Amino acid sequence: MKNIVIAIDGPAGAGKSTIAKILAKRLNIIYIDTGAMYRAFTYKFLKNNKSIEDKEAIKEMLDNTEIDFRNNHIFLDGKIVDNEIRKNKVSKNVSNIAKIKEVREKLVLLQRKIANNKSVVMDGRDIGSNVFPDADYKFFINASAQERGTRRYKELEKKGTSIKLENIINEIKQRDKIDSTRKLAPLTKTEDAIEINTTDLTIEETIEKVLSNIRERG
Ligand code: DC
Repeated sequence: MKNIVIAIDGPAGAGKSTIAKILAKRLNIIYIDTGAMYRAFTYKFLKNNKSIEDKEAIKEMLDNTEIDFRNNHIFLDGKIVDNEIRKNKVSKNVSNIAKIKEVREKLVLLQRKIANNKSVVMDGRDIGSNVFPDADYKFFINASAQERGTRRYKELEKKGTSIKLENIINEIKQRDKIDSTRKLAPLTKTEDAIEINTTDLTIEETIEKVLSNIRERG
């Protein structure tokens, strides 16, 4: 069977990774969370207390950074960092790190390399527009900022973290703004992507829409 690439893009908290994970399982192909890669580098960057202006330090750090996925875990320099990269401090800073040219260049190369000769579902912001412009299937998963904030709020509540809903929504809007207005590979829906608004859809309904589109197009 021919290798396929399914690109899933969209703003923060729209449900991309939930959808992509389930999809990969059902199709028995690999899932690559590119946001997690930007988060892993951001986590390392913050831990090292470097300035975002210090391009030399960033380049050196990039040269000495290994990110990969194994057994559904993300590894940063050989260590699992699944939980560390979801911390609020990383979420708050990741959009500004993801704007940096050198960071994007390295991570996009790595994304293409990981997907080489495999069938993959890859989620992010620029997969259909930049990483794999020739992807076989492209989806743009969206939801209102209010709904995305509420989902995130419920997730955090379950974990016992209390942050005001209003603050979460504002942070999401702030990230949307940075991600969609940056110079390099901004968040955008390409013309050939199928847009699915998940505001009033369950996870299963969204999966069904994606799968029926894939089936229709063969
Ligand atoms: O999907 P996420 O929220 O985990 O992504 C974290 C950040 O990484 C997001 O705010 C922007 C950046 N990102 C990106 O610039 N390009 C991608 N392909 C994926 C994520």
